[in-house]
Amino acid sequence: MGEKKIEKIKEWDKNYHIHTFANEKTYQPIVVDKTEGNYFFTSDGKKYLDFSSQLVCVNLGNSNEKIIAKVTDALKRYGFLWDKYATEYRSLASQKIIEEIPGVNRWAGKVKFFSSGSETIEAAVSLAKLIKNKTRLLIKEYDFHGWTSEALKCTSIKYFGSLKDIGTNEIVELPSDDSYVTIPSPLCWRCKFGKCYPACKENGVLHCIKETEKIINEAGAGTIAAYLGETVSGFGMVIPPEEYLPQLRNLLNKYDILWINDEVQTGFGRLGKWFAYDLYDGIYPDIMCIGKGLVNSVIPCGAIVVSKEIAKTLESKIWYLGSTFSGHPAAMAAAVATIEYMIENEIVEKACRKGEYLRSKMEKLAEKYQPNIAVSGYGFYMQLELLQYKTDTRSINVNNAYSPAKAIMDGCYQRGLVLGGLLPYSIRLAPALTVTTEEIDQAVGVLDDVLKSIFEEGK
Ligand SMILES: Cc1ncc(COP(=O)(O)O)c(C=O)c1O
Repeated sequence: MGEKKIEKIKEWDKNYHIHTFANEKTYQPIVVDKTEGNYFFTSDGKKYLDFSSQLVCVNLGNSNEKIIAKVTDALKRYGFLWDKYATEYRSLASQKIIEEIPGVNRWAGKVKFFSSGSETIEAAVSLAKLIKNKTRLLIKEYDFHGWTSEALKCTSIKYFGSLKDIGTNEIVELPSDDSYVTIPSPLCWRCKFGKCYPACKENGVLHCIKETEKIINEAGAGTIAAYLGETVSGFGMVIPPEEYLPQLRNLLNKYDILWINDEVQTGFGRLGKWFAYDLYDGIYPDIMCIGKGLVNSVIPCGAIVVSKEIAKTLESKIWYLGSTFSGHPAAMAAAVATIEYMIENEIVEKACRKGEYLRSKMEKLAEKYQPNIAVSGYGFYMQLELLQYKTDTRSINVNNAYSPAKAIMDGCYQRGLVLGGLLPYSIRLAPALTVTTEEIDQAVGVLDDVLKSIFEEGK
């Protein structure tokens, strides 16, 4: 791209586009020329290894020829057809999700497509409310569910969707109401009840589960339609102890509350399993929300997957819900190609093995810089915690105080490595599942250099 064109791109982008999480006055556009596999190239000729898969969504990296070919075929063959018409790609995508993704047919009956993860949250929540004829929801601390109205209300981190005045730092948050009942997060290493895992268990039951039961009873179990939660909270990488989900599932069964499992980010191999619920034996959701990795993010798409029981309930009803772009032929082709590619190339199994390799390298870093850092996570969903900052309560630094995580991420970016995360004291590593061991070595090498400059040289 010539200099003049680049300047115009920057000018029009800065002047006419509303940017995400950005101070419009100081915002500087990063113009990307192209992407290739796990890399992107900026207009100033620099190359970046994307260890964040953009928004933890390009699970197979960019430029996947099989996906591009199927999407192109769908566009040539169908262009656009709305939901009323069945296409080969939609029928194949549905069949593959229910029958071919390992384990899904143990519990799931049907799937319905939407255009984003947030839309799947809207649909899942409204379906649960309709089925149960109840209006309230259980949500969990630190879980994130998206950008649309219901999805934001179900997100207990009030920073999302808020509006901050740059001059006064005053923040206006969206109003919520008592339809959303928040349960504690199983954030064991910073337990809000001052307990220690596993000593927190009484008769085998986790203290946070006991507290959750109290909350359900205080709110009135009979008013609650569903619990909406992430199994592993992506925002703060909260990894529950092994007892948590089975015990929560028991509680939901006991009080006849549906479980909506938000796998928009954790689904499609991110944790070295097809879905986060696969980390547990015999625990299945009633409704599951998926997106991002479903189509390798080449086209906006999401879906809800419902249990056999809910699918049966729907057989005797008409659900008056749909959208223009539900089941868009190009998105369906992307889903078919993504799932086929993942199964044929054993992407999930390989991600599990390569994730172990990344973890072993990260643990060596933790050892080298102890007691400053710790590592947690599964598969390619790895978190680096900066331990010396004891004040971390999983809150976002809205007032732009010094953020060591940002300083480390900036240092890596200058050296061509992109990492992610919003918290001031933790960094997320979430490369594409197709990342090579050489790329893992390269990324950990860069991170090591930056950590050295911060912890050893005090720069
Ligand atoms: C867990 C989770 N749920 C829902 C969403 C919303 O998905 P989308 O951005 O596609 O609307 C996201 C997006 O980051 C997410 O991480």
